[in-house]
This record gives sequence, C-alpha cells and structure tokens, in this order.
Amino acid sequence: MKYKTAIITGASEGIGCSLAKLLVKNGWEVIGISRNIKKLNSLNKELSKCKGVFKPFACDVQNFRKLVSIEKKINIPDLLFLNAGIYTPIDASNKNIEHFKHHINVNYLGVINAYEAFLPRMIKANSGHIIIMSSISGWIGLPKAAAYGPTKAALRSFAQSIRYDLNSKGIKVQVCSPGFVETSATSINNFYMPGLLKADEAAKRIYKNMHTKKFEFSFPLGFSTFMKLLSILPDKLSSFLINQIK
Ligand SMILES: NC(=O)c1ccc[n+]([C@@H]2O[C@H](COP(=O)([O-])OP(=O)(O)OC[C@H]3O[C@@H](n4cnc5c(N)ncnc54)[C@H](OP(=O)(O)O)[C@@H]3O)[C@@H](O)[C@H]2O)c1
Repeated sequence: MKYKTAIITGASEGIGCSLAKLLVKNGWEVIGISRNIKKLNSLNKELSKCKGVFKPFACDVQNFRKLVSIEKKINIPDLLFLNAGIYTPIDASNKNIEHFKHHINVNYLGVINAYEAFLPRMIKANSGHIIIMSSISGWIGLPKAAAYGPTKAALRSFAQSIRYDLNSKGIKVQVCSPGFVETSATSINNFYMPGLLKADEAAKRIYKNMHTKKFEFSFPLGFSTFMKLLSILPDKLSSFLINQIK
C-alpha cells in the first residue's frame, strides 16, 4: 500500500502530536521529529494498530546535519509540517538575551533547517505541500511576547516569500496562524485565553484547512477575526486597546 508521507516537527506533544495522530488514523505515514524519544515511542505504540504508520526520529531542529541524515532514510514527503516551537513570556525590561536567541534558533532557524533539509527532493519531484506554523502573535506585537512574537512574524514573512518560488515548482505553501491552544506551551499563561481550543480540535482544523486553497488559515474564527482587526487598526488605537486588556 502506498501511504502519503508527512513530516511533522514537534510531534511529541501538543498540536504536532494531535495532527500526527489524526494523519496516521487517516492512513498516512508520519515521520515524527522532536527531541523526546520516549514520548515519540509511546505515541508510536499508541498508533501501532492504526491504518497508517508513525515513524519516530529523535532530533533537535537546531541540528541541521541530523535533519539531513533523517532525510536520507525516508520517502519524499507529500507534506512538510514545520511546527516545532517554544514559547516563553518575557518582561522586556529585564535582561533576556538568552531567551531572544533561543526563540530565534528554535522557532525561526529550526524551521529553516528542516526546510533546507527536506525541500530538495520535493523540488526534484515537482510536488509537495509545506505548512509553516506561525501564530496570531505574528500579526501584531503583544505584551510579554517580545521573544516569541517576532519569530512568528518572521515565519509568516518567510512563508509569504517562498511561495513565489515554490508554487511554480508544484509545491503548495500555507501558513497556519492559530489563536490559543491548550498545550504545555500555553500552560504557563496566567491570564484568560479567549477562544482556547483543545489540541485535538486544533489538529482537526488544520486537517480541514490543509485541503483548501487558502494561503493563510487561522482559528478560532471569533478571536482570530478580532486579532486581525486589531492588527490593522491605527497604532494609537490598537496599543490603547491592548493596554486596556493586558
Ligand atoms: N499552543 C498555542 O496556543 C499556539 C498558538 C499559536 C501557535 N502555536 C505554535 O504551534 C507550535 C506547537 O506548539 P504547541 O502549543 O503544540 O507546543 P508544545 O505542546 O510545547 O509542543 C512543542 C513541540 O515542539 C517540539 N520542540 C520544541 N523544541 C524543539 C527542538 N529544539 N527541536 C525539536 N522539537 C522541538 C516539542 O518536542 P520535544 O520537547 O520532544 O523536542 C513538542 O513536540 C509552536 O510552533 C507554537 O509556537 C501554538
């Protein structure tokens, strides 16, 4: 049987894990990449009786060479879901140089590493689909998000740019910009998160949207529409409103 192959970075937990489960249940072969091999192996066990297959690979997305070595062992991906990421809220009045660098290295350069490692055979095959995980935090600067937000804005810009070269080579590019999803990443937030979704629900929405022609997709609708409006308001008004709700 010929499976469709997806690579998911950040597959050990959260949104990436939920999407891996959904794809494997729908008959896909999923190459799951993240650092925690124990979690990947237990996911593999959980999915062993499903229609598709899960193949775990322990790798830090900061390690380009290791990503290239994985590339040599797998089928050409039909889907490259560049999702691995970290989130630490920071107080920008403190010293944060390590947080700034770490977010850039994992969230932005980690995506670039995986993109460079897995793209060449997709280009040769003239086919494939890349989804880049951004966030509504990439639309406008938000409180405490000075380390995280800029990496997501950069990823959105990256996705907007690469599509001009990749679409003509048969590769579809999408950017996913969710609102709040209940995962370990957001468990440290000590504020109300409007429209908070379960990770399995977020995965269902990604699965639905990846079959559409939309370039960017976001969810949940209410909160993402509010944030989109906020991002296009004049700065005086948007910063005033953000100050009221922060
Ligand atoms: N949750 C939200 O509200 C939300 C909203 C918008 C966007 N997002 C984005 O969605 C993505 C997934 O977030 P999540 O909420 O599902 O987070 P999560 O539950 O913390 O999961 C993050 C995943 O990324 C992996 N990861 C982290 N650092 C890595 C590294 N250096 N190398 C390889 N894998 C690494 C983790 O696995 P290991 O620890 O095993 O490496 C884990 O599988 C992130 O890019 C995040 O920015 C999340």
